[in-house]
Amino acid sequence: MNLGHVLVFGGTGMLQEATGWIAKYAEHTIAFGRNKQRLSRLQGEYGEHGLEVRALDYTDNERLKQEISHSYVRHGSINMVVAWIHGTAPRAIPTIMKQVSELQENKQWTFVIIKSSGNLDRIITPVKSTERNCIIKEVQLGFIYNENTSRWLTHEEISRGTIQAIKGNKNKTIVGTLTPWNQRP
Ligand SMILES: NC(=O)c1ccc[n+]([C@@H]2O[C@H](COP(=O)([O-])OP(=O)(O)OC[C@H]3O[C@@H](n4cnc5c(N)ncnc54)[C@H](OP(=O)(O)O)[C@@H]3O)[C@@H](O)[C@H]2O)c1
Repeated sequence: MNLGHVLVFGGTGMLQEATGWIAKYAEHTIAFGRNKQRLSRLQGEYGEHGLEVRALDYTDNERLKQEISHSYVRHGSINMVVAWIHGTAPRAIPTIMKQVSELQENKQWTFVIIKSSGNLDRIITPVKSTERNCIIKEVQLGFIYNENTSRWLTHEEISRGTIQAIKGNKNKTIVGTLTPWNQRP
């Protein structure tokens, strides 16, 4: 498997195992984040697989666009973007979608969007692709429910679900369950 050139946003915390897996199977991976300690720890762990880390606050839309262009200029067309973006940056997903698509109009790419929120509607309402060369795969994070008790997903389950979504062909992967929603922890 060769994932090509991959950008990861929000992959330095709970999702770091998935970021490491991506780095192993990609030609070049760039993980973005604000926290320098987290970035350098990740680089130390997966740098041998060609992982590069870059400091970025993705609420800064102009910097976000610049970083994407910079990645494209240095490493060529982008095959996949994996993004777990907080609600603090509502413009980040559309900005990434537009910027990557416009930089490489004739190249199809995959946008893996991880969604978790206290709001079920936000999780299940599909993100629409506004660009013809962008294929969206959504990862909807739920919870684990066994009739008596419920708990949130572990880091490992979140990473495993994301890896499964990347490897598969489905446009939607639910990790855990979203029902019954009122039984969430
Ligand atoms: N459904 C479930 O089972 C489940 C389980 C666990 C968590 N969650 C939910 O998942 C959400 C994420 O939790 P968390 O924040 O603690 O996760 P985290 O994985 O520890 O951190 C969030 C990731 O996003 C990055 N990030 C956040 N804001 C950023 C910004 N402005 N610019 C660039 N990167 C940014 C962080 O990098 P930096 O640290 O470098 O900023 C980090 O990589 C929460 O809402 C939580 O409730 C759900």
